[in-house]
Amino acid sequence: MNTSTADTLGFADWMGSIQQRTESALAGLLPEPVISPRRLHSAMRYAVLGGGKRVRALLVHAAGELAVAAPERLDRLACAVEFIHAYSLVHDDMPCMDDDVLRRGKPTVHVEYDEATALLAGDALQTLAFQVLTDAPVADSVADQLAMIGLLATASGSRGMAGGQAIDLDAVGKQITREELEFMHVHKTGALIRASVLLGARAGAPIAEADLRRLDHYAKLVGLLFQVVDDILDTVADTATLGKTAGKDADNDKPTYVSLLGLDEARRLARDMLDEAHAALAPLGPRTARLGALADYIVHRTF
Ligand code: IPE
Ligand code: IPE
Ligand code: MG
Ligand code: MG
Ligand code: MG
Repeated sequence: MNTSTADTLGFADWMGSIQQRTESALAGLLPEPVISPRRLHSAMRYAVLGGGKRVRALLVHAAGELAVAAPERLDRLACAVEFIHAYSLVHDDMPCMDDDVLRRGKPTVHVEYDEATALLAGDALQTLAFQVLTDAPVADSVADQLAMIGLLATASGSRGMAGGQAIDLDAVGKQITREELEFMHVHKTGALIRASVLLGARAGAPIAEADLRRLDHYAKLVGLLFQVVDDILDTVADTATLGKTAGKDADNDKPTYVSLLGLDEARRLARDMLDEAHAALAPLGPRTARLGALADYIVHRTF
């Protein structure tokens, strides 16, 4: 699909088409399961393919359209982010972390395969994410590309997702403050979502500094919002709808926005943050319609 076709699609059709092209791009970049080591390659494909909302890929593409970036570049960036995300889920579900048996409606990787394979599949997906960003251009200059790789590394590492996950584990069974909870969520989930928007925005023609700051403000809000809604869904949705075990946060004694503020206040906060995200986009005009619709989707989703 070229950019002009994308322009003519309504939001639901656009979303479906990006999800579809992301699925085939991911399938094409993953090692074939017939290649040795087969069990590892099979586990990597199992972890990534055939499920997931692809929210991060959608954010890469929606932000990339603002920079009129080539769709092939956006596919590659979207895959890199989805590989990191899939790795984070494989490890998040392991017995040493959240100890979950269901993900995307299927047995988790350590259940379907075994713990060592799950650990290695996560490791290999992480490095694959960076490999795909070195194999082909995703920016106009090598310096820009290096900066984008650095951005993804920071968002994924100890000062981003992995750091947030460490704080999450440390917080089990503890009373933490609202500031501490926000810090944890901004890192474990927000960082990669924020990076998705920024990577898309940097993949094409330069965007004015002031507009990049507005996009970054939107991206930070949506990143936190995503985990606030995840906390809400954990308490209100059922396992069949979620495709993962409902009520897991309370079972694992995790501090969440619902446990700290209560359901009504968590929902009110989500609505306020959604309004602020729309306000951040407003000065950029109608070309941010898809980013705005994605923020709405993130809040109103059912799984
Ligand atoms: C789940 O992420 C883990 C969090 C960061 C809250 P998603 O809800 O995006 O999971 P998939 O990719 O759609 O399965
Ligand atoms: C996960 O948060 C954040 C990650 C970095 C994977 P959760 O532990 O709440 O995600 P789910 O609910 O298991 O998908
Ligand atoms: Mg977790
Ligand atoms: Mg979990
Ligand atoms: Mg959760």
